Amino acid sequence: MSAPTLRLPVETQRLVIRELAEKDLEPLYAWRRNPAYRRHLPMPRQTRAAVEAELGTVLRDQTDYRRLRYLLGVIERKSGRMLGEAILKLGPALRHRQAEIGWAVAEDAKGHGYATEIGGALLDAAFGQLRLHRVFAMCSTENGASRHVMEKLGMREEGLLREHFRARERWWSSHIYAMLDSEHRKRKGRSA
Ligand SMILES: CC(C)(COP(=O)(O)OP(=O)(O)OC[C@H]1O[C@@H](n2cnc3c(N)ncnc32)[C@H](O)[C@@H]1OP(=O)(O)O)[C@@H](O)C(=O)NCCC(=O)NCCS
Repeated sequence: MSAPTLRLPVETQRLVIRELAEKDLEPLYAWRRNPAYRRHLPMPRQTRAAVEAELGTVLRDQTDYRRLRYLLGVIERKSGRMLGEAILKLGPALRHRQAEIGWAVAEDAKGHGYATEIGGALLDAAFGQLRLHRVFAMCSTENGASRHVMEKLGMREEGLLREHFRARERWWSSHIYAMLDSEHRKRKGRSA
């Protein structure tokens, strides 16, 4: 089964979610280097070289017809500024029509509903364009803001993954939330 292709950009009222480009290294690195960015993320310190290498992989993936991972830039329409990132990962097996989504916004863009707008756009694209069946998201148990975003999006809590990840010399536990296509249709006011 070939992977469905996400058509980009995805647009919302205030945002444009588009493919990353080489020129995005500086803004991406600017918020990733901020310790607040990864406070609740089990990732290593974000050096410029690491972010550049990741961006290189993302740019190569953009032309892969078997592409399963979309790491995208989020642009504020009115200023043209990149203020965040969005992720959609298909799989693990395509026949199950599942994906994981995620979001992050720059420190100075927090608290304006952008993550919720990104998450809503990803859900719409996943169930609309990609015709997926279930979309899930995870956050560390300490990430109250991201958990709240999942709740605002109408995703349903499925459980707690206890110490399922080891990073930065400690164990991480996560909340997992998901939405089914029937729930998305209902939320959008269409019959299930
Ligand atoms: C988590 C994050 C994405 C939130 O982005 P944001 O644009 O500020 O999110 P939104 O404004 O859409 O919504 C956040 C909500 O959480 C609330 N909130 C903030 N801090 C909170 C906390 N500690 N506990 C509970 N709720 C919290 C906000 O008040 C807001 O709710 P409201 O709209 O009802 O007032 C952002 O802080 C971020 O990028 N963090 C670093 C990366 C990250 O952790 N990404 C998530 C990976 S799972």
